[in-house]
Amino acid sequence: MEMNIALLPGDGIGPEVIEQTVKVIKAIGQKFGHTITFTEAVVGAAAIDATGNPYPDATHEICLKADAVLFGAIGDPKYDNDPKAKVRPEQGLLDMRRKLGLFSNVRPTFTFPSLIHKSPLKKDRIEGTDLVFLRELTGGIYFGEPRGRNEQGTKAFDTNIYSKEEITRLARMGFEFAQKRRKLLTCVDKANVMATSRLWRETVQELEADYPDVKVEYEFVDAVAMRLIQWPKAYDVLITENLFGDILTDEASVISGSMGLMPSASLGTDVKLFEPIHGSYPQAAGKDIANPLATVLSAAMMFEYAFDLKDEAKAISDVVNLSLAEGVVTEDIAEGDKAYKTSEVGDWLAEQILK
Ligand code: IPM
Ligand code: MN
Repeated sequence: MEMNIALLPGDGIGPEVIEQTVKVIKAIGQKFGHTITFTEAVVGAAAIDATGNPYPDATHEICLKADAVLFGAIGDPKYDNDPKAKVRPEQGLLDMRRKLGLFSNVRPTFTFPSLIHKSPLKKDRIEGTDLVFLRELTGGIYFGEPRGRNEQGTKAFDTNIYSKEEITRLARMGFEFAQKRRKLLTCVDKANVMATSRLWRETVQELEADYPDVKVEYEFVDAVAMRLIQWPKAYDVLITENLFGDILTDEASVISGSMGLMPSASLGTDVKLFEPIHGSYPQAAGKDIANPLATVLSAAMMFEYAFDLKDEAKAISDVVNLSLAEGVVTEDIAEGDKAYKTSEVGDWLAEQILK
């Protein structure tokens, strides 16, 4: 197959983890006989420095022409500590999601047998966890208008808005995921307080009839925050609005033992995008110590979701499992003093694939 992949390394550790993932993708291409071309583009603080815009039109064009987008991370501390900054790198991420129509962020949470002891949670609670969040990604309080300050600057406001259409397309995707898995769908909302949540619940209830094989549970977000770490095996597919999904998926990453391992896919109306959930981790940038595995696993999701190539996806997750089992890992998850560099892990993975 011919594949044209847009690479958006972005900020912080983004470029390093993308570099390793490219090694892995090239190895897969070689092994399975695919012709893969890469087109690189700037995003985030890197793009502000280069063009003044965190998601330049040229980057958008490259994404639209690509068969899939692989994204690193966005964010730079020089903007975090300046609430008055006019342009922010994160704006680039939000623009990209909206312009590419990426309304569903798929964030799986699973455990790795060799890492169970790394989780702060008890083994019997988390072993065998296999759940997936579908986080709505282009609506809600992240985008609602009006937003801003009053004239005096003494009050600030954000607006949470959802249309039935936005809820329906995300929810249908949730039902379809559930049908291919354990057939349990949890709608996470705050319907006891919020009007938007009541529309979510009502809309999902109406869709239930179309998917009689799926069992649907409705749970308030505060209760999910608790049960998710108490008894994660209770969940299969969870659907939720943008902000709740942002918060709960960070929480869920604790179950796996390391945020450095959790991949994601953003799906929607157009091209599909794949990214690690860990963010830019500026403290580690340029040190060759960042864990590349979340991005590598995002590439596995890319082969599966963008190209429907399950064997290629499995070859990647198998080699990641092997690296974990053999301890060819970065310092965040290494035992004792046997830590490998980011680049060494990338080289090792590519070598193993070609063995
Ligand atoms: C994420 C991130 C982003 C979000 C930030 C960087 C804007 O936290 O992808 O979860 O809040 O969506
Ligand atoms: Mn987040």
